[in-house]
Amino acid sequence: MASNIFRELSAGSGALLRDESVLRPSFMPDELPGREREMRELASYLQPATRGLAPSSVLMCGPPGVGKTTMAKLVLKQLQEVSHKVLPIYINAWETSTRFGILNELVLALGDMMPRRGIAADEVVARLKEIGRREQKALPILVLDEMDRLLAGHEEQILYDLTRGPEALGLPCSVIGITNDEQIALKLDARVRSTLTNHLISFSPYSPAQLKSILGERAKRAFSPNALDAEVIPLCAAVGAKAGGDCRVSLQLLLSAGLQAEREGAKQVLVSHVKAVQASALASASTPAERKAAGLDEMDRKILSCIQKAASGLSSGELYQAFKAGESEQRTLRNRLSRLEAGGLIEGEETMSQEGGKSRKWKIKRTA
Ligand SMILES: Nc1ncnc2c1ncn2[C@@H]1O[C@H](COP(=O)(O)OP(=O)(O)O)[C@@H](O)[C@H]1O
Ligand SMILES: [Mg+2]
Repeated sequence: MASNIFRELSAGSGALLRDESVLRPSFMPDELPGREREMRELASYLQPATRGLAPSSVLMCGPPGVGKTTMAKLVLKQLQEVSHKVLPIYINAWETSTRFGILNELVLALGDMMPRRGIAADEVVARLKEIGRREQKALPILVLDEMDRLLAGHEEQILYDLTRGPEALGLPCSVIGITNDEQIALKLDARVRSTLTNHLISFSPYSPAQLKSILGERAKRAFSPNALDAEVIPLCAAVGAKAGGDCRVSLQLLLSAGLQAEREGAKQVLVSHVKAVQASALASASTPAERKAAGLDEMDRKILSCIQKAASGLSSGELYQAFKAGESEQRTLRNRLSRLEAGGLIEGEETMSQEGGKSRKWKIKRTA
């Protein structure tokens, strides 16, 4: 057979990484080690749904990468297995950030087609009420992820609508709000606050030991036996712990190290592979395809592309402006910047601002 570069490449690949999809953000684990208490808590709040009743709303709060989004999706999936009435709707407020947009998603999920343009929010509400009159069975449970975005965009009326479902929308609607803004309760309208913070679940950062056991479970499925040097998982766990107890960082690092080891045709994933990707290989994750490979979410990608577009670097202030970020979103952005820095994707360079003060300009990290 004539030589073929791809056959040669694939001869060795896959020897270490048996199933890399297990380490990607789209993978849905069916257990969440270290989150047993939080899972039980959420399930107990949602339990009325198993008897056909609309559960009261819940607020979940905690830093990035601690399993909030994954847990909400997993618990709703399990709820759906025992209750056919439940209609889970997932909305990320960075993607759907207006009252109109969210109401529209609700109507669509309830099975009605809406014209996308030329109709006002109040007309959507009227449509919902109409649906509510004939559809009394469905129990919509709306996950509102990164909900602080709504406050910054002055779209908090939707929170009022949703938490007052039957009166405001003509049908019951439960909300699972998710945010990494610990101060959100202070910023909510009093009427919304009382319903939403009544059931509050706080997530703390993962400890190195917790990250180690999560990574250990995932690695069993993702890698072949003995593919990992004993120090690899502890190191990935330590980096994630340092980045704020962030599981996403740890998983991303483990995956990148595995891919790097395969590229080198190594017999095992070693600490040196982890260090190499943390410092350099992750830097090349600045092309869209590789960023995807590195497992960043939509918002991380938006941040990186903003930074990439600014030839001479971008200050945090400029980034806030580009995102039209209010106070609470600035916090989210700050958290994400530190995480991207800890992951070796960006670096901050000290510069003098025009006012003579020191500030940092963010750049895509290119070399080790
Ligand atoms: N307890 C856990 N067990 C297994 N995987 C987890 C756990 N917590 C988080 N993860 C994984 O870490 C990543 C980040 O979790 P995510 O739910 O997106 O965090 P958050 O929404 O808090 O930012 C996801 O890939 C998720 O699968
Ligand atoms: Mg999340």
